[in-house]
Amino acid sequence: MQKHVSVRQFKDQPLSADMKQQLMTAAQSGSSSNFVQAFSVIEISNKTIKDELAEISNSAPYVKKSGVFYVFVADLYRQSKMLKDAKKSTDGLKNMEELLVASVDTTIAAEDMAVAAESLGLGICYIGGIRNDIRRVAELLHLPRFTFPLFGMTIGFPENKNQVKPRLPKSNQFSVDTYDISSFTDLTDYDQQIHNYYLNRGSNNQSTDWTEKNVDFFKEIRRDDIGSFLKDQGFSLN
Ligand SMILES: Cc1cc2nc3c(=O)[nH]c(=O)nc-3n(C[C@H](O)[C@H](O)[C@H](O)COP(=O)(O)O)c2cc1C
Repeated sequence: MQKHVSVRQFKDQPLSADMKQQLMTAAQSGSSSNFVQAFSVIEISNKTIKDELAEISNSAPYVKKSGVFYVFVADLYRQSKMLKDAKKSTDGLKNMEELLVASVDTTIAAEDMAVAAESLGLGICYIGGIRNDIRRVAELLHLPRFTFPLFGMTIGFPENKNQVKPRLPKSNQFSVDTYDISSFTDLTDYDQQIHNYYLNRGSNNQSTDWTEKNVDFFKEIRRDDIGSFLKDQGFSLN
């Protein structure tokens, strides 16, 4: 796990059926809040659909050329059906808590799949870029109410790998008993490390650092259509 890097260049080699079975089993094996198993995974094999998802996500080369591309769907549709069959209200699925439950279950499943894939010598890259047009993705995949596409994951045999990206100093992320701002170290050294990483890595070199990247990323509101899409899918966001 300490060797993890996102892989964005794959060999043109599909995964075997056996490997895909192992990955699916790994994804199903994780913890699940109250055992609701609130996720589904859609393998994208149709070229037209894959091409459109690749364009939407701005990650075209490594979505199109990989061993397999999955879309992870946060999914409370099954529960909505069970409630309807039992003639009960679906209000209990609508609030933010349940949206978080489904998002967390889906993320745990995805990361278990990622770790399993890497243990088989494969490379992975999460593709949050599918949320660039979340409504179209839901339409393309015929997603019912009480579901939403959280991210994609492209998996395959690595053609090329970047170096491991240095993580934050531990004192800035781990503490005991309290959120301890006083133990945070100044990020000058870390920014320098990240600057060197981006400047020297094997592909997509950039002159930036962690602080600059984050300010740039969060300086304006992104994907402001997600809330209204989730409301249309049945969630109240309360
Ligand atoms: C939920 C999620 C969505 C992501 N979406 C994308 C994406 O759309 N395109 C991409 O190239 N990388 C994507 N990434 C990969 C991150 O950029 C990457 O994990 C991060 O820069 C750390 O680098 P590393 O994975 O190589 O350690 C995503 C990662 C996560 C966890």
